Amino acid sequence: MMAMPLGPLMSILFSIAFMAMLAKTSPTLALLATALSAILALIIISYTGRYLPRWIMDVLDRLTNKASLEASYGARSRKLVTIDAGLLASRLKSRVIGQNAAIDSIAVQLRRRLAAQRSDKPVAVFCLAGPPGVGKTHLAKVLADELYGDKGHLHFFDMSQFGQSHAAASLFGQARGYVGSTSYGSLTAALRDTPNCIVLLDEFEKAHPDVHKRFLTAWNDGFVTETSDGARVSTTEAIFIMTTNAASRRIGEIAKEHESDPVEADRLIKRALSDAQFAPEVLSRIDTVFAFKPLSGLDIARVVALETESLCKQYALLIEDGGIDPAILLRAIEAMQKQSDGGVRDIARAIERQVTDGLLEARENGARSIRLFAEGQNVRVEIASFLATAERSAEVG
Ligand SMILES: Nc1ncnc2c1ncn2[C@@H]1O[C@H](COP(=O)(O)OP(=O)(O)O)[C@@H](O)[C@H]1O
Ligand SMILES: [Mg+2]
Repeated sequence: MMAMPLGPLMSILFSIAFMAMLAKTSPTLALLATALSAILALIIISYTGRYLPRWIMDVLDRLTNKASLEASYGARSRKLVTIDAGLLASRLKSRVIGQNAAIDSIAVQLRRRLAAQRSDKPVAVFCLAGPPGVGKTHLAKVLADELYGDKGHLHFFDMSQFGQSHAAASLFGQARGYVGSTSYGSLTAALRDTPNCIVLLDEFEKAHPDVHKRFLTAWNDGFVTETSDGARVSTTEAIFIMTTNAASRRIGEIAKEHESDPVEADRLIKRALSDAQFAPEVLSRIDTVFAFKPLSGLDIARVVALETESLCKQYALLIEDGGIDPAILLRAIEAMQKQSDGGVRDIARAIERQVTDGLLEARENGARSIRLFAEGQNVRVEIASFLATAERSAEVG
């Protein structure tokens, strides 16, 4: 039962009294007033759409929960205004291991830049530099996830695909008249569709210098121009993050030596990048370069453990608490110290090769969780618990 609010009730009573008085003095006028209010009521009712025939109703009213959809859609296009730097940093640190100095600094800078949003520049232009396989690309992805909570807000570009000078066309569109020039460039289209986003320019040094220069207006003027139709697409809500392995050894050392002095580190790193063929106008437009350190000691074990966990998740398997044999992780640390480059990626891949068959088998036997044991140079998968029968038949069905 819906209780009628007092306001409308009073106004209805008042109108009835008014009509009765009017009917006594002038019946025609009363008739006219009644007809008029009937028409008005009809208009109001049909406006809310609730009593319309199915075919006039909004599809969304009919087929979904429109209010909830509208709310989520609103959240999607929400602008980031302020963030809690401390909270963001601690969330990032739980997913990106051993890069605390870079993460703290990124969080603080982002907070400042979001608060002081400039109307003619992107929110930020950051560069993550350091050796391969230490979490640069990973951090950019995790950051997008933490800020926007949605994969759609990350625009990923593998810059090694733009090694030729004419490659910019596929990012910024192609002049009219070219074959296939009807479609937008991938960068301009992405920014047009989701302007509040992270644009990840992965391994930036591998793109052609001409491609690098095309980014300057995006960073200096706050827009990019789509070549095919000359449309301006704003970049003022975007966070540009480029990653680079250039001069990684030197940058790794600078990061270690100048951990407590980020300003000096930034200056030295920019010089190292300039020696590695980064154009001065590009470097001068980068707000900050964050140096990533080579992973060491137990941090290697942490990353390998996380990687192993996410591998198991791909097979819908959990690792039981304490379920990874320390010997496996110790071996990973030793392997990392022996190899010079390649980072954790190679090690995670080696473990993947060793456990894939075991994981598949465990899955087929209805395992819910598993343990991993080192056995000589191999890894053995042992089932720790099984799925309940109902879950199993759901899996099979
Ligand atoms: N510091 C780290 N913390 C957590 N995972 C990491 C870290 N470094 C590397 N990884 C894992 O290794 C993979 C490769 O790292 P990536 O970020 O691509 O390296 P790069 O520094 O070369 O960009 C990532 O997908 C991630 O799962
Ligand atoms: Mg990378």
